[in-house]
Amino acid sequence: MNRRSKWSTRYSIYLLAIGSALGLGNLWRFPYVVGENGGGAFVLLYVFLALTVGLPIMIAELILGRFTGQSVVMAMNQIGKRSNSKMRHFGFLSVIVSLVVLSYYSVISGWVLHFITRFFIDSLAGRSVPDDSLQILLQNSVLQWALCSVHILVCLFVILKGIQQGIEKWLQIITPLFAVLMVVLIFRTLALPSTGQVLRFLFYPDFSKLTVFSLNQALAHVFFTLSLGFGTLVTYGSYIREDQHVPTAGFRVTMVDIVVSLAALLLVFPVAFQMAGRPLTDPSLVFQVLPSFFSSLQVGSIFGLGFFVCLYLAAFNASLGLFETVVSNIGDHFKNFGRKKAGWLAAGICLILSLIPAFSTQIMSFFEGENKGLIELMDSFLINGILPLVALGVCLIFSRGLTSAEKEKHFVDKQKFVSYTMYPQWLFALKWFAPGVILLGWILQVYGLLK
Ligand code: TRP
Repeated sequence: MNRRSKWSTRYSIYLLAIGSALGLGNLWRFPYVVGENGGGAFVLLYVFLALTVGLPIMIAELILGRFTGQSVVMAMNQIGKRSNSKMRHFGFLSVIVSLVVLSYYSVISGWVLHFITRFFIDSLAGRSVPDDSLQILLQNSVLQWALCSVHILVCLFVILKGIQQGIEKWLQIITPLFAVLMVVLIFRTLALPSTGQVLRFLFYPDFSKLTVFSLNQALAHVFFTLSLGFGTLVTYGSYIREDQHVPTAGFRVTMVDIVVSLAALLLVFPVAFQMAGRPLTDPSLVFQVLPSFFSSLQVGSIFGLGFFVCLYLAAFNASLGLFETVVSNIGDHFKNFGRKKAGWLAAGICLILSLIPAFSTQIMSFFEGENKGLIELMDSFLINGILPLVALGVCLIFSRGLTSAEKEKHFVDKQKFVSYTMYPQWLFALKWFAPGVILLGWILQVYGLLK
């Protein structure tokens, strides 16, 4: 695809935006964040914020890209200059966030690769995957890093060859399969005896379980899962065709992501309650309980293999999105740098950064006897700490930098009456509601940490 050429079909934006939204965020991150925050009330808060804060920002990012025709650093700079906002430098921050997230995202993708090989070998050998597979992996940092490096290098290869569309074709086939597989598995997990307890935990809101951190964590997860604040959607927005209605696309993408996240909870939580007797509260538990669950099923290895292959493809596609954001920003910024150099530079930095999470599990487990560690710390610092600020920058720069006529032109579609009614609400959300909630969440978080 020529950079900045417009996409050939109206569906391309769905493919790319949904592709970047769905990933480990839904199946790995969301369940443990929900577990840490006590269940139902947090889930409700998350859905509410996805629609009232996430969706307006997603629309703003896509329009920012379409309007400027550039990727995030240049786009924020160009629009930020109009209102002389210091926040225009936040575009740069989002590229750094993408790079660091890619580094630990790749480590987790490596874990998925590990389970693919385990299920493959064990299903050939006709035995079930042993329960301590994750433990073995966590104590072998070299293996973790090797798997992660394979992941990063394959991403680099695909990006440099420009064969992402090939992957998209695969995803068009795999995604429906994954959906069917998830539905089948959810029927199975809901038949577990723990279901009553799980449904109460997930959907009966008990607001007393929320803490001072919950607002910020719910918001931060909305940004993470919808890929907001990373600059990815700004880049994608620059390819959108003129005849496409951005808000409609944004709404559909957000809804798909919410549904998949809720489905992930229904898949993972009954298993966690059954196997571990408690909700998931740390990043590795999902990789502990799901394999044990698959092993307990008839032909479980086949289910396990299918599940992890699909999960890997989703993670792979998301990694490509992160990678592409970094590469296209480096390319736009340093014109003489070239894509190849930019790609190698990004891959090199990621390979080095990923040493930290990969080796942390072994070193930490040596000290504490558990595998929580730098992955959670890095994730929490970036996603809960930095990402909301970047999103705040996007809101403010967008609200102040574009004139009303410009905003209206991209939001309102004469044939869609609802776009007239939603327009003032969208403006209000970007200018007041989202910044207010982001600041409140962030202040509560800092207060909680200092207390
Ligand atoms: N949203 C992805 C997920 O839920 C992760 C992600 C964050 C991402 N930022 C991104 C993917 C940018 C692609 C591009 O797993």
